[in-house]
Amino acid sequence: FLTLDDLEPEGKRILVRVDINTPVDPKTGKLIERTRMEEAAVTLRALSRSKVVVCSHQGRVGERDFVPLEEHAEILSSVMGKKVMFIDDVMGPAARREAEGLNDGDVLLLDNLRLMSEETQQYPTVEEAARTYIVQRLWRLFDGFVLDAFPTAHRAHPSIMGFPYYLPTAAGVLVMKELKQLQQLEIVQKGPFTAVLGGSKVRDRLEALEALLENRRADKVLVTGVLALVFLKAADKYRGKLEKVDEWAVSKARELLQRYPPIIEMPKDMAIQRDGERVELPISELPPDVQPLDIGSKTIKEYSKIIRSSGTVFMSGPPGAFELDGFDVGTRELLHALAASFGTTIVSGGHLATALDRMGLSKWIDHVSSAGGALIQALAGKELPLLRALEYSARKMREGGY
Ligand code: 3PG
Repeated sequence: FLTLDDLEPEGKRILVRVDINTPVDPKTGKLIERTRMEEAAVTLRALSRSKVVVCSHQGRVGERDFVPLEEHAEILSSVMGKKVMFIDDVMGPAARREAEGLNDGDVLLLDNLRLMSEETQQYPTVEEAARTYIVQRLWRLFDGFVLDAFPTAHRAHPSIMGFPYYLPTAAGVLVMKELKQLQQLEIVQKGPFTAVLGGSKVRDRLEALEALLENRRADKVLVTGVLALVFLKAADKYRGKLEKVDEWAVSKARELLQRYPPIIEMPKDMAIQRDGERVELPISELPPDVQPLDIGSKTIKEYSKIIRSSGTVFMSGPPGAFELDGFDVGTRELLHALAASFGTTIVSGGHLATALDRMGLSKWIDHVSSAGGALIQALAGKELPLLRALEYSARKMREGGY
């Protein structure tokens, strides 16, 4: 891949695609953490003598976390110790004028890329992505492009795939760091491989899990969180509430249970909220009208035992609603089990990375990544569009195509 040095970025105008997509507190509407801003700052500091325009997506259209990037600019400013400007425009005249007026050392953050509907579509080739409005409106302003959005590496969106068609494209520091760690993990990886999967992006998780199983990467899969409820429903063990989960998910889970019966482990008990308190119940006794918020103690004990005796453990997505009082037990206990495991350990996703930090356990884990879905896909052996885009640019540069 091309590196930042290959772009000879001093004095040039550089577009940087980062991923500062961050969970939002449902009560206050404020960002919950700053891990991804801290990661993005490393590449931005390395470009301190360029005119830098930064872009990222935030949340999903229609969800509560679909918010502007104004607060991100404030946090980035405090992380970097210098002003990061913000403009509430993505590719219109205002954004372009602001970008054109930058001086060396300036950093400008554009607004949420997903305000543009194109940025939620998949474009399988660089050529197709290059024809989108986002790329057509912006590329002429820049001398080079940097891809540093490792957590979005699995999305073939225009801002990931399109610019390398026109602009020499370098891998940012985070992308290089993640790739180096992944290579080392492949070398030291020893079986049995256990994946502990939770979180709320059920469709993504099921697709990644299918790839993990098809490529025979996982010997045991411990399902937690909403994903566990989907599997329990598919196995006819859970008759309670299941919000925002479609029929596709339940039938995909059923299919995976049939194809890989001994590999997938489901919880034996879960915790619900009753009169503001945590109450643990066996799965068969869960009431139909409330959705459980964490895994129970019996499950935690069984899962921890499997984790401690695994050769390699990968954990992604919190096992419960850890932001609610009393429902962080599963998350904390399983992270402790990982820290105590003799195997190689990988923790993935912004929530878990932050939880580890708060618990002071980060140094006990071999690889901590703020990437969720992208890292699972890499471990499952699936091709990442972001890497394809970087390869495309390196090839085009070698062939003198820019
Ligand atoms: C992530 O947090 O996994 C990335 O930012 C990608 O977000 P998405 O799943 O909404 O595409």
